[in-house]
Amino acid sequence: MRKKLIAANWKMNNAPEGAYDASSPFHANTEVDVVVFPTLLDIRDCNDAQIITGAQYACIEETGAHTGDVCMSQIAAAGCRYILCGHSERRKDHGETNEYVALQVITALEHNLHPILCVGETEEERDAGKEKDIVTAQLSGIPLESDITIAYEPVWAIGTGKTATPEQAEEMHAYIRSLLPEDKRETTKILYGGSMKPENAAELLSQPNIDGGLIGGASLKPDSFGQIVQIASR
Ligand code: PGA
Repeated sequence: MRKKLIAANWKMNNAPEGAYDASSPFHANTEVDVVVFPTLLDIRDCNDAQIITGAQYACIEETGAHTGDVCMSQIAAAGCRYILCGHSERRKDHGETNEYVALQVITALEHNLHPILCVGETEEERDAGKEKDIVTAQLSGIPLESDITIAYEPVWAIGTGKTATPEQAEEMHAYIRSLLPEDKRETTKILYGGSMKPENAAELLSQPNIDGGLIGGASLKPDSFGQIVQIASR
């Protein structure tokens, strides 16, 4: 049985009120793994509050003249355990290509950071029936034999209130699982992301190949996030 993982992606938002309280839902519990992706500026406060953290991005270079960037070793030294690689907003806003994202995953592993690789198609790509081709291309070059987590986040469902149906999500998750090397099929977690909220979490999280969620909007509301964590604990 894969333990569920519920991840909060705070994106470029401040920590929600009460996030650092001992009773906040952002703390890991025995039933569910919980990880928070705050801005770089909030990582220390999260860690001080005993919240398990990841960074939303890191550069593949080791050091040097890269204004505005941080590298994987700095992220690891800051106490992060996880790193998001290839979130669709990074791919779109910063031109991250499949090749660059694959290098990020490899570099993260070299620094003992656990990568959560984000994949997913746009609405046009789904309308054209190309969603599996797109995801296959995003997974090519990724060391799938390593310990990584994959997040299927259809771009059309992110921040839009439109969620993939449990059937659409499960179909893609099962497809992704079929691409994993045999000895990783049972253990690799595949999260769903895209407008997950308390109202739809139970149905999504009960699908056999959905092992958790990467939560954006609803992670900024501790009540909603807490409800999702509760649902995942069942
Ligand atoms: P959302 O974001 O839950 O607001 O759709 C998910 C994500 O971008 O990771």
